Amino acid sequence: MRPIGVGMLGSGFIGEFHSLGLRYVPGARVVANYGAGAERRDAFAARWNSRAYDSIAGVCADPEVDLVVVSLPNHLHVEAVRIAAAAGKAIACTKPLGRTAAEAAEMIRAVTDAGVFAAYLENVVFNPDILRMRDMVAAGAIGRVTTFRAREGHSGPHAAHFWDAGLAGGGALLDMASHGVEVARFLFGKSLAAREVFAWGDTLVHGGRTTLEDNAMMVVRFADGRAATCDVSWSSKGGLEGRFEVYGDAGRIVEDISVGSMKAFIERPAGYLVEKADAETGWVFPVPDEVRIHGHDLMMADVVGAFRDGRAPAETFADGLAVNQILDAAYRSLKSGRWEPVEAAEAVTAPGAVA
Ligand SMILES: NC(=O)c1ccc[n+]([C@@H]2O[C@H](COP(=O)([O-])OP(=O)(O)OC[C@H]3O[C@@H](n4cnc5c(N)ncnc54)[C@H](O)[C@@H]3O)[C@@H](O)[C@H]2O)c1
Repeated sequence: MRPIGVGMLGSGFIGEFHSLGLRYVPGARVVANYGAGAERRDAFAARWNSRAYDSIAGVCADPEVDLVVVSLPNHLHVEAVRIAAAAGKAIACTKPLGRTAAEAAEMIRAVTDAGVFAAYLENVVFNPDILRMRDMVAAGAIGRVTTFRAREGHSGPHAAHFWDAGLAGGGALLDMASHGVEVARFLFGKSLAAREVFAWGDTLVHGGRTTLEDNAMMVVRFADGRAATCDVSWSSKGGLEGRFEVYGDAGRIVEDISVGSMKAFIERPAGYLVEKADAETGWVFPVPDEVRIHGHDLMMADVVGAFRDGRAPAETFADGLAVNQILDAAYRSLKSGRWEPVEAAEAVTAPGAVA
């Protein structure tokens, strides 16, 4: 089996999850990495037995790198994709693909022009419960899907770039509803176009820190009139929330990806428990294998497998663009107070667009 060398751009929170997601992928390993801070970058390299570089270009020029994984803050996605594509590397980029659909379209142009493999890293649709939900929907278990509801929240992002409107490009909606929107597309069927969006959002709690919305809700209406809602928060206490519910005319399926069946009452801290846990003691809800539960194992297996086999990955840059188009409409609605149409960017129909 051909070994796949991975170049990890970003050695922070999600770079670690993406690297852990490669644990059980045969023949794939991180061989090069980049991060902004030398200390963290070198520690990451020591942990993963990889070579640390002080630039994106350095990782992309490493001859052992076949696949570049973009785990950088939102404002660096376009630049990273442009450099990796120019170096002829296969690329996988975390959510949201762009800060806007225009950025996502630019990334599609870059990978299309270079003729390189490109995957969108949306982990939630690889969560084992969501996959089971999709299979049950496909088997007709709940009849015709009518509506979908996502609730995602935590008490606020861990790094400064998320709070900076210019760097991040959006607040809780872009950061969290990017997951819910893609899960909705996954369950309704990706061929069903989203037609319009109505959204509300405001800075209810973190006004001293950001101008971005820290709480928001949006309704997406699809072309045939069915609808999905995403309700997100950066001020929700008590640990990560990730609830996804799908309703049909013959049933419903609801699940919470952020808690397992385990709960503990502890008087002394046990170290890391779960993403964004707000409490170290008392009643806590540790998740035994977060990397798998959050979908990273199956996601990285799909990305590496697709690249190796020369097929399209399950989540493509076109999916990332579709999510950005829906979120662009949400941000327009947030300003206008009206339903806003989902506008297609020109790259979706561009010849040779990566499907
Ligand atoms: N799939 C998910 O559930 C998920 C979860 C968290 C983050 N993300 C996405 O991953 C991306 C990175 O988020 P993160 O949580 O890993 O961030 P992070 O701050 O934990 O890590 C960012 C990494 O980028 C590097 N970096 C390079 N240039 C930088 C700069 N100018 N400013 C800040 N950092 C810089 C940092 O050194 C670090 O290695 C974002 O696009 C975010 O949306 C996805």
